[in-house]
Amino acid sequence: MAEKHFKYVVLGGGVAAGYAAREFAKQGVKPGELAIISKEAVAPYERPALSKAYLFPEGAARLPGFHVCVGSGGERLPPEWYAEKGIELILNTEIVKADLASKTLTSASGASFKYDILIIATGSTVIRLSDFGVQGADSKNIFYLREIDDADKLVEAIKAKKNGKAVIVGGGYIGLELSAVMKINNFDVTMVYPEPWCMPRLFTAGIAAFYEGYYAKKGVKIIKGTVAVGFDSDANGEVKAVKLKDGRVLDADIVVVGVGGRPLTKLFKGQVEEEKGGIKTDGFFRTNVPDVYAVGDVATFPMKLYNEMRRVEHVDHARKSAEQAVKAIKASEEGKTIDEYDYLPYFYSRSFDLSWQFYGDNVGDTVLFGDSDPASPKPKFGSYWIKDGKIVGAFLESGTPDENKAIAKVARIQTPVESLDQLTKEGLTFACKI
Ligand code: FDA
Ligand code: NAD
Repeated sequence: MAEKHFKYVVLGGGVAAGYAAREFAKQGVKPGELAIISKEAVAPYERPALSKAYLFPEGAARLPGFHVCVGSGGERLPPEWYAEKGIELILNTEIVKADLASKTLTSASGASFKYDILIIATGSTVIRLSDFGVQGADSKNIFYLREIDDADKLVEAIKAKKNGKAVIVGGGYIGLELSAVMKINNFDVTMVYPEPWCMPRLFTAGIAAFYEGYYAKKGVKIIKGTVAVGFDSDANGEVKAVKLKDGRVLDADIVVVGVGGRPLTKLFKGQVEEEKGGIKTDGFFRTNVPDVYAVGDVATFPMKLYNEMRRVEHVDHARKSAEQAVKAIKASEEGKTIDEYDYLPYFYSRSFDLSWQFYGDNVGDTVLFGDSDPASPKPKFGSYWIKDGKIVGAFLESGTPDENKAIAKVARIQTPVESLDQLTKEGLTFACKI
């Protein structure tokens, strides 16, 4: 089998890989020096589109429209861009073995790739209900959403089961975004999740009450406090019903499951230090193995602002960590240094005509401000998290770009707060005047 050698290899062809390629091109990379190896069939794209505009009934996003780096306002990098720069895109190629000692990657078809410097950017995979042995979880028309192939299968099913019934399992990001988009596709939608409110890892009860009310207004049914324990299927093996732990049975033509992700670190088990489920790095995304970097969803890195090791599964960090790693690689080749990564967490979501942003850390006391009545014609509200007398986190629904910048700023500088009552009264004005 053929063996190829590259100075730099990015393993994974997702968001981080695309932004790494752009940074390599900016910093100067010679033709033939850099390869991206991906099991996907397409060049890096902005993954967040898959749970939003990719599934719209009309005017849906399609490649090449959302290749990186359009998601952050940059120039789009279609496959031709990589060809022009002499960056090799090795697609449809799953790496099944990584030997960090000999700097060799081996693909499923037996091809070998040698590197001088490796950037691990394998991202996450979905947690499956079959992982917990849920009965009937392998029935047809039960979908997960991670890669473009998954989204294509869902699009086909949406067409085949027109105006049918959809059950969405999970109350996190996928649960909320997919319930909305299935409703927009005119499905009868029921969401099921075990917690007392949606998106519990970020939302307070007050924030969640708005989204639950808004979704109900749009006709999405919500069943909380229980889980799917089994699925019935018809003679074709297609799902027909979802059985819940509390005894209820829901009819279903399509089921979408979003019960969390798991970072893809298994190729490197025992070869590289791990922490908190990810590959441990420093503030330059260097692992403990020389010449091996890890970025995006798989990296557990020092979050300088909170003096803690963290892993972040969001697109903004995937982009920025990739850029930081490439800058660090290039700087070290030139005997220079760069500043350590100093990340302010930034998460966002969009569904229906809603759009929220969150910056910082969701710990401490909280205040809710603004109009969070789901029945309002133009609801607009937010929340602050306050710890040790300082704002550490801020959330805003329906903010303007300037208002979003203002909440980012208070979370970054950790503005001191004298009175929670005053903060509640001032609301967004507090952030805008800083
Ligand atoms: P990413 O998952 O993008 O890429 C990993 C790549 O590695 C894939 O191409 C994969 O095929 C490849 N790979 C893995 N193992 C391999 C192997 N052994 N051999 C070859 N290739 C391999 N975030 C956010 O902030 N806002 C949002 O709105 C959304 N929306 C959203 C929607 C959906 C449907 C998903 C799944 C995720 C989001 N996210 C998000 C999260 C965000 O997309 C995610 O954090 C980044 O894509 C992470 O970028 P990475 O490059 O680390 O992994
Ligand atoms: P998540 O962690 O956001 O949510 C998982 C949810 O699964 C939990 O909130 C819980 O409600 C539910 N759950 C857990 N076990 C369950 C069970 N047995 N039955 C029913 N529900 C159960 O994960 P996700 O929504 O699956 O998202 C997957 C990945 O994609 C994450 O990395 C996420 O960050 C990313 N993503 C991000 C965005 C965004 O940032 N806007 C959008 C989509 C996906």
